[in-house]
Amino acid sequence: MQALPRVLCSSEASSPAMPPTTTRAQGVGLLGCGTVGSGVARRLLASHPGLIRAIAVRDPRKPRDVAWDDFASDAFDVVDDPGVRVVVECIGGLGLARELVLRAIARGKDVVTANKDLIATEGPWLAAFAARTGASLRYEAAVGGAIPIVRALHGSLANEDVIEIGGVLNGTTNFVLDAMEAGAEYADALAEAQRLGFAEADPRSDVDGHDAAHKLAILAGLAFRRPSVSPALARRGIGAISRDDVRAGAERGLRLKLVAVARRAGDAIEAGVTPAYVADDHPFARARGAENVVRVLGRGCGTLVFSGAGAGGDATASSVVADVLAALSERERLVAFNGADLVARPLRIPLLVRFAEGSVITSDAVSLDAMEAAARGFGGRGVVRSVIPVWRDAA
Ligand code: HSE
Repeated sequence: MQALPRVLCSSEASSPAMPPTTTRAQGVGLLGCGTVGSGVARRLLASHPGLIRAIAVRDPRKPRDVAWDDFASDAFDVVDDPGVRVVVECIGGLGLARELVLRAIARGKDVVTANKDLIATEGPWLAAFAARTGASLRYEAAVGGAIPIVRALHGSLANEDVIEIGGVLNGTTNFVLDAMEAGAEYADALAEAQRLGFAEADPRSDVDGHDAAHKLAILAGLAFRRPSVSPALARRGIGAISRDDVRAGAERGLRLKLVAVARRAGDAIEAGVTPAYVADDHPFARARGAENVVRVLGRGCGTLVFSGAGAGGDATASSVVADVLAALSERERLVAFNGADLVARPLRIPLLVRFAEGSVITSDAVSLDAMEAAARGFGGRGVVRSVIPVWRDAA
């Protein structure tokens, strides 16, 4: 796990970490008012009038569908406001958002974020840092939109011996693959997912599998109780998937899904994100449109399946607001991680190799990082059209 910083960022260089802010302050400082932030603002203004103390945005003059008169332009002022107890980060990314979260934690404030990139790359040490300053860090909205899976893992399943966790973790790609199944072109389906507010600001994060890898790293860390970060995870996206590939699956009763799974394999853990054919009656195939499915297999709990809205402003805002209320009532504080970082080898799955004439499903599972080499092993059968894993549950 990354070492805790001595100097947090330029703005912290001259001010030492402060003790926790007063327990009397109850205000919420909202940073960012885009798709998720505006959903959070509308919900809180309706359900808890007076709770929001400030909302910081990049351009206060821009018209927004939020009943708020006095948008702030300096997000650092909002974080520093002694009346702000809970800082809600809805900016996203690793630049300004990261600096603001660090500052809030340094000041002992409760932080709620939907920022998958940040939690999946720096979450373990941020949690350790928060434990040291008396702050808290909550990120239910970073995985699975409205699905309360983070809460389930650190609460009800905290003592579970998890064997496998994962499923369909990206709403945009699921929407696109569903639309292609219904006959749409890839580019049109992606444009529609962007219009509906499902996609990331840079949709390559969705289609290349980064977003799903971030969420998988977060889930794996919670499930296996080890610091876990996403850059090391094996990952393939849906950019090369054609309507022919979708059709080839449908002819065999298989649906294409972007699958993200981490599981125990002997003494090791294997994990990865990949488009994969899934049997039509498999739980992963339940995800429709921008829905997500998260399946937990545990020695005690057996099979648990969580499904629901995985993307979109309202779904994500619902989880953010739940975290805000938990922070204010000091419920469900996430614990910091301990121990060595989780190191996962690439998932191993059988492959469907399609040739100009016919196709085969490999009898053996193949590592995600060796798919092309495995397909070459079928030389002599003609030109390979595509090589796509076929999801198979571990025996
Ligand atoms: N772009 C993300 C998705 C948003 O499509 O799943 C929710 O995290």
